[in-house]
Amino acid sequence: MAVALIVAAGRGERLGSDRPKALVALAGRPMLEWSVGVLRSVSEVERIAVALPEGWLDAAPAGTVGVAGGAVRSQSVRQALQACGAGDPVVVHDAARPLAPAELFERALARLESSGADAVIAAAPVSDTVKEIGPDGRTVVRTLDRSRLWAVQTPQVFRRAALERALESAGDDVLAAATDDAWLIEQAGGAVEVVESSAANIKVTTPTDLRLAELMLAGVRV
Ligand code: CTP
Ligand code: MG
Repeated sequence: MAVALIVAAGRGERLGSDRPKALVALAGRPMLEWSVGVLRSVSEVERIAVALPEGWLDAAPAGTVGVAGGAVRSQSVRQALQACGAGDPVVVHDAARPLAPAELFERALARLESSGADAVIAAAPVSDTVKEIGPDGRTVVRTLDRSRLWAVQTPQVFRRAALERALESAGDDVLAAATDDAWLIEQAGGAVEVVESSAANIKVTTPTDLRLAELMLAGVRV
C-alpha cells in the first residue's frame, strides 16, 4: 500500500495572504483540504502525512499525520517521509495543486508498478515556444525543441527506497536547489518517467491563480 505526503509548509509569499498559502480559503474550504479529499478517494493510499509550517500543526486535517516542514520544499518532503510510517510507494503532492484529479494519482501509481522506473511524475507538454536567454537577461541564445519539452507538476510517485536514498545523500545545497524531488532521483542516476497531465492541474502561486482555481472548483461542483 502507498503512503502520501502533502507538502503544505510554504509561506505563500507570492500570494501575500494573512496565513500560509495551503490554509487560505478556496471555494469554501482551506486549499489543503482539496488535495486531502482527492487522496482519500485513491484506494492504494493507506495514510496521508502533511508537512505544515511551524506553529500550524493544528491545521492537519482529521485522519492525517501532521508534521512540521523544513526551510525548503525538499526538507518538508524529508520531514513528512520520516513521520508517515510504513508504506511503499510514496506519493508526493503539493498542497498548492488543489485541482489534481484522483485519476492522475492512480495513473502515476499504475505506471510505477508496471515500469522499472524509480519515479513517475505528472507533466504536461509545453504549448508555448521556449527560448533560452543569455546572462544579460534580454538576448535570445537559442530556441528549444518544444516537441520534447514538458512542464513538470505533482503528483510525483516514488519507490520508497529510491526516494529515501536520494533525500539522504543530498546535501543542504542540493536540497535547497531542488524544485522537485524527481530531480534528486535524476541526480542519483535513477530512472524517471512522465505520465501526461493537463495544464488544468494548475499551481496556485499568485492571487490570479487563486481566483482561477476558485472558478474551476466552482465549475466542478455544479
Ligand atoms: N513547501 C513546503 N515547504 C517549504 C516550501 C514549500 O512544504 N519550505 C510547499 C508549499 O506549501 C507548496 C509546495 O511546496 O504546497 C510548492 O511550493 P510553492 O508553490 O513555492 O509555495 P510557497 O513556498 O508557499 O509559496 P512562495 O514561494 O510564494 O512563498
Ligand atoms: Mg516557494
